[in-house]
Amino acid sequence: MKTKLFKINPRKIEIDKIRKAAQIIKKGGLVAFPTETVYGLGADAFNKQAITKIFRVKKRPFNDPLIVHIADKKDVFKVADKIDKTVCKIIEQFWPGPLTVILKKAKDIPKIATANLETIAIRMPAHSVALSLIKEAKTPLVAPSANLFGKLSPTTAEDVLEDLRGKIDLVLDAGKTVVGIESTILDLTRRPFSVLRFGGVSLEELKRVIPEFRLYKEKEILAPGMFIRHYSPRAKLIVVEEGKGQIGKVKKMVYKFLRERKKVGIMAKAEHRSQYRNFKVKFLGRGNDFSSCASNLFALLREFDREKFEIIIAEGVKEKGLGRAIMERLRKAQGDG
Ligand code: TXA
Ligand code: MG
Repeated sequence: MKTKLFKINPRKIEIDKIRKAAQIIKKGGLVAFPTETVYGLGADAFNKQAITKIFRVKKRPFNDPLIVHIADKKDVFKVADKIDKTVCKIIEQFWPGPLTVILKKAKDIPKIATANLETIAIRMPAHSVALSLIKEAKTPLVAPSANLFGKLSPTTAEDVLEDLRGKIDLVLDAGKTVVGIESTILDLTRRPFSVLRFGGVSLEELKRVIPEFRLYKEKEILAPGMFIRHYSPRAKLIVVEEGKGQIGKVKKMVYKFLRERKKVGIMAKAEHRSQYRNFKVKFLGRGNDFSSCASNLFALLREFDREKFEIIIAEGVKEKGLGRAIMERLRKAQGDG
């Protein structure tokens, strides 16, 4: 199959291109599209065959459930059950935006989408292209990140093609995504509510709206897919935690790998630029600018891979705000998340 690519200006959407994309979805095809977090691989949420194709092309295990994307808050009632006032308040506050909520699933959604769970993950993305595609297709879309399973989520159309060229019908290219990491996942099916994945909405933002929630414990397996190594670059990644002596520790490790004749690079905070003059280094952003760091994270890791680095020594960031989501991904990339 030849994968088509349509460039779209998100501020001036050409509806013809969206209509063609929606046609493909209606016929059971797969379309990769931008959201504010990362690119998603979309299919009609009510079409079992199309959903099966998503798992096949991504090489994703069937026990890893998908997120359903909607373009209108009201559509949450089409895909989920038991939506009370508190749930409505949360949705009202955070949608459209990078928050995925887990609710009780509505009957009509095929079980393959939710890996046979009675619950369903739902979000309304804050991206004009995503929203107009969903509207034009007149159906909610299941959409995992548009990468091969276990690889880094794509933040550009090129990233999508790198993993899925020839395997999907179309990529809608609206440039680099803004947030750069996936949505925060919040389980609203049990109280207290729990956060299953850190992401584009920070805990601090959640706390302002939700009085009580907790972080999930590793042992409670809600969705098997949650605990498989994720976000991995090909290179081996080692995180050096934020704090005193961070730069020294990074350099020591780099020297060790250089002695072993490995191609080793550093992913550092911008304020450490002068410290790493003689090293191969890429800069994530200023350590106190979590939004820039998040937005560059996957893009930089993919760059290291393209340049065939064997080892990446990554400087950790502070664990507050989006810093938590960044650290969660770095630890998973390291293999101990
Ligand atoms: O930002 C995002 O969330 C992106 C964009 C495309 O929207 N999507 C995304 O999807 O990251 P994906 O499939 O790569 O990650 C979704 C994760 C699954 O791996 C699974 O762990 C969790 O959501 N999930 C989905 N349904 C669930 C459920 N019913 N219960 C618990 N976890 C669920
Ligand atoms: Mg993913």
